[in-house]
Amino acid sequence: MSGLNNDNEGNGDNEEFVVTPWEVRGKIDYDMLVERFGTQRVDDSLLGMIESRVGELHLQLRRGIVYSHRDFDLILKRFDEGEKFALYTGRGPSGGVHLGHMLPWFFTKWLQDNFDADLYFQMTDDEKFLFNPDLTLEDTQKFSLDNALDVMAVGLNPKKTFIMIDTRCSRTLYNLGIKFSKHVTFSTAKAVFGFKNSDNIGMIFFPTIQAMPCFLPSLVEGKNVPVLIPASIDQDPYWRVTRDVAPKIGFYKPSQLHGKLLPGLSASGKMSASQPETAIFTKDSPEEARKKIWRAFTGGRVTIEEQRKYGANPDICAVFAYYYFLFEEDDEALKERERRCKTGDLLCGDCKNDLIERIVKFLREHQKKREKMKDILDQVLIDDSFFDSRIKSAAERGFPDG
Ligand code: TYM
Repeated sequence: MSGLNNDNEGNGDNEEFVVTPWEVRGKIDYDMLVERFGTQRVDDSLLGMIESRVGELHLQLRRGIVYSHRDFDLILKRFDEGEKFALYTGRGPSGGVHLGHMLPWFFTKWLQDNFDADLYFQMTDDEKFLFNPDLTLEDTQKFSLDNALDVMAVGLNPKKTFIMIDTRCSRTLYNLGIKFSKHVTFSTAKAVFGFKNSDNIGMIFFPTIQAMPCFLPSLVEGKNVPVLIPASIDQDPYWRVTRDVAPKIGFYKPSQLHGKLLPGLSASGKMSASQPETAIFTKDSPEEARKKIWRAFTGGRVTIEEQRKYGANPDICAVFAYYYFLFEEDDEALKERERRCKTGDLLCGDCKNDLIERIVKFLREHQKKREKMKDILDQVLIDDSFFDSRIKSAAERGFPDG
């Protein structure tokens, strides 16, 4: 298999790439990100450790999509010693959910199932209000409820999943948040997040809020609970700051498993809601999805004759990326598709049609599931009252002492 690099080489090889929580631009060099962010690679030995405990590897691990981590080995060590970990991930509700957002949630479900872990899921309605001049708080609150349907439709265990919309948990977040934020200087925030003088001060405080669910499972349990964050690599700057501060306020450092970004359907860039024509949204109709895939950038040749003769290039093909990341579970079938593409046996039109069929089937099923999730939403949405009683009893036992 080619080890699809998600590089989108059509975009000029020498362009400087940018990966921040708010902007992903250029040709991403994932190896360089490991150096830049100071993370660890998910190597064969770590994969072996996971496989020996679970008995299999998730597609995203097998294919190097989840490729980097911080202290996941420590999570496994503590797990073996009887310390269960909690999962934490989230969504910035700025509109509809696309397939890229769902990538880490599929993987999160696998982790939840296999390690029997509680999941805290943060909906940052505050973040999206603060960072997006066009959105009102009412908008982002509405999107939070809507997006929560997509999250649950992935098949998460409702008994073990707690969705927190920030503005519904503001007392909890703020009371712990002030202890955290006292340890983060403005110069650190500027260096890590690139804040500018023109940014509003809500934005500058916000990273505190995204850090909080790393500690809430510990407050709820009344003892330090290891927390694992499965998310794509763009969110990593938050965890760097969080890990620095954690021990200063009496908590474990959170661990991470980082995923690569699902590319958009054009020649360059990640799938992004800001380019809706190159992203598949969970609420797209079959016709919309079909049109977008039909217009997708491929690694094909200009003419059919050339393609038959020289073959195409799956490494730069947005369509192949969708099979690689999501829509071909079977490794052997993926290899065969790649072989047929490279030898000119498979033409782009056929490959696109096949993908359309798979994506339309997925969307139909997902849309049905997300409707059903309306019945369980109340069960999984939590607010300050969820934390109040639990945190109080932890405090009475003297936790945390930081
Ligand atoms: P948001 O809404 O931008 O993204 C939600 C999740 O989707 C991932 N992601 C992608 N993954 C693969 N391919 C893509 N094209 C793609 N685009 C986005 C993100 O990494 C994220 O995991 N501030 C956060 C919300 C948040 C959060 C968290 C995310 C709060 N707490 C903890 C992860 C973990 C945000 O706006 O995510």
